[in-house]
Amino acid sequence: MLERPRVVINVGASVDGKVALTRDALLMHQPSTDLWAAMTPPGADPVPLDVLELLKQQYGCNAILEGSGSLVTESETPEELPPYDGDAADLYEHFLPADITQLLSPPLMWFVVVDSRGRVRWTENHENWAVLVLVTRSTPAAYLAYLHREHICYLVIGEVQVDLERAIAAMGTELGIRCVMSAAGGGLNGALLRAGLIDELYVTLAPALIGGLGTPSVMDGSPLAVGEAATRLQLLSVNADTSGSVRLHYGVPGSG
Ligand SMILES: NC(=O)c1ccc[n+]([C@@H]2O[C@H](COP(=O)([O-])OP(=O)(O)OC[C@H]3O[C@@H](n4cnc5c(N)ncnc54)[C@H](OP(=O)(O)O)[C@@H]3O)[C@@H](O)[C@H]2O)c1
Repeated sequence: MLERPRVVINVGASVDGKVALTRDALLMHQPSTDLWAAMTPPGADPVPLDVLELLKQQYGCNAILEGSGSLVTESETPEELPPYDGDAADLYEHFLPADITQLLSPPLMWFVVVDSRGRVRWTENHENWAVLVLVTRSTPAAYLAYLHREHICYLVIGEVQVDLERAIAAMGTELGIRCVMSAAGGGLNGALLRAGLIDELYVTLAPALIGGLGTPSVMDGSPLAVGEAATRLQLLSVNADTSGSVRLHYGVPGSG
């Protein structure tokens, strides 16, 4: 059996475990970006670490994973796409154009986004980065046609939601991805937890409290059943700085 790529979560949170200020505003948009940064006063000995760079060196990490929730809020209505009037059957096959997949990775890095509902519109290109969208057999044909037109790679894995276990495995077999760093919010990270796919976790706590029931946290997703045990972690390192930030690094015993 082929080994699946290693999955490492890298997340920033308040001390009460929130990863956003509210569910209605993305951290990548103002005013949240500045408000989030302001939670961490400048320290003389800051703990933030370039986890991606570390994982590149340690495991040959060549992919970042994000959920659609990092790029579009649930309350947003994405720009409408023209209906697809061709034979949709061909669209529901993986789309991996050779001119992209033949590039050496690294230096090519994959920006992988789970988006079964086809909500993200792609407007930016970054040198040495290629986008891979994870979609399913329920993703609207108009969205898959849009990805074809934009020459954006996708894998079709799952019926309604993306089957994360198969998707992570396919990233290895189809694209040679060895390690993926999840930079997602609580929805996707919680789903990775429930699927038993997390190998390591970096959490950088900012010295601040956010509060708010329903505000995304480090791990959301479906709750444990009554009597079901938590996932135990093994502490690998802890670093604190004079600003009050704390970086925790854990391994998940028994994972890949
Ligand atoms: N502090 C940080 O480090 C950090 C990092 C990232 C994001 N954020 C913030 O966190 C917020 C977003 O968090 P969020 O929890 O709303 O979004 P999220 O983590 O993106 O969660 C939603 C994503 O998870 C997928 N998903 C959920 N359950 C699933 C399952 N069972 N199987 C397969 N896929 C599943 C959804 O798929 P579909 O799209 O297919 O429905 C969607 O792509 C934003 O405000 C963002 O700015 C903070």
